[in-house]
Amino acid sequence: SLCFLDGAYGPLREARVSVLDRGFIFGDGIYEVLPAYGGRLFRFAEHMARLERSLRELRVPNPFSTAEWMGIARRLIADQETRGAQNQLVYLQVTRGVAMRDHAMPPGLVPTVFAMASPMKLATPEQRANGVACVTADDFRWGKAHIKSTSLLGSVLARQIAADVGAVEVVMFRDGYLSEGASSNVWVIKEGVVMGPPKDHLVLEGIRFGLIEELCHRRGLRFELRRVTRDEVLSADELLLSSATKEVLPITLLDGTPVGRGRPGPIYASLYEGYQQAVA
Ligand code: PDD
Repeated sequence: SLCFLDGAYGPLREARVSVLDRGFIFGDGIYEVLPAYGGRLFRFAEHMARLERSLRELRVPNPFSTAEWMGIARRLIADQETRGAQNQLVYLQVTRGVAMRDHAMPPGLVPTVFAMASPMKLATPEQRANGVACVTADDFRWGKAHIKSTSLLGSVLARQIAADVGAVEVVMFRDGYLSEGASSNVWVIKEGVVMGPPKDHLVLEGIRFGLIEELCHRRGLRFELRRVTRDEVLSADELLLSSATKEVLPITLLDGTPVGRGRPGPIYASLYEGYQQAVA
């Protein structure tokens, strides 16, 4: 399929970057993952705002305007559509650029920009009907999880803890309080209240994060952001994951123990219905 690299479109398999790219050497870059439903990008403006925030943290200038990013995403989506893909995932990445290895930021680099689109693998009907299994883990990632950084070793190691036991995601705790999954946000439901962690430097504020908040308000569900303890997670009525690909997905087994009644619950059903209306 087609990809975009440094101003040109070409076959994904033939795209090459320098071994001195700081993305390769240091993970010195940021990325975005945007869903597109039936060719339409979902919450594009919110993804652009987060891209901008991530770049600002890195002190890398945004190489493109929102309209230019939109043009790139649309062209890649159009290419995927000719291959029959319905719903797609657009991946955008910006690294600091190419330079001789030095930890400090060399001035005046030209950022490396890469983008691709691929068919979106949504949750299966079986996962939606039964929910998914997760395992808890200590959050050993770094202290700037709010940046959507390509330095993802912490997330890779965390996710593998789940993969090793056939679970889909880790539910992580920092100092005893819920943070998030390796690549998703986690929601805790108790007595009708939807709870999530504070929006601070310990979690990535998913684009679904704001959407869940919106859906709760629209559906008259109580919504609270605060520090949530491990005990509260373990005694939740429902647990949910949210991300671009998981949309909103129920966790029904945590560390091998059923969550609540061990079935997808009513608040999941309500939020998933709201989500589907939003993307329709
Ligand atoms: N991950 N938390 C982390 C650590 C994430 O990496 C992600 C997204 C999320 C959810 O964000 P959003 O609702 O914007 O998808 C939360 C993407 C999908 C990824 O790394 O592939």
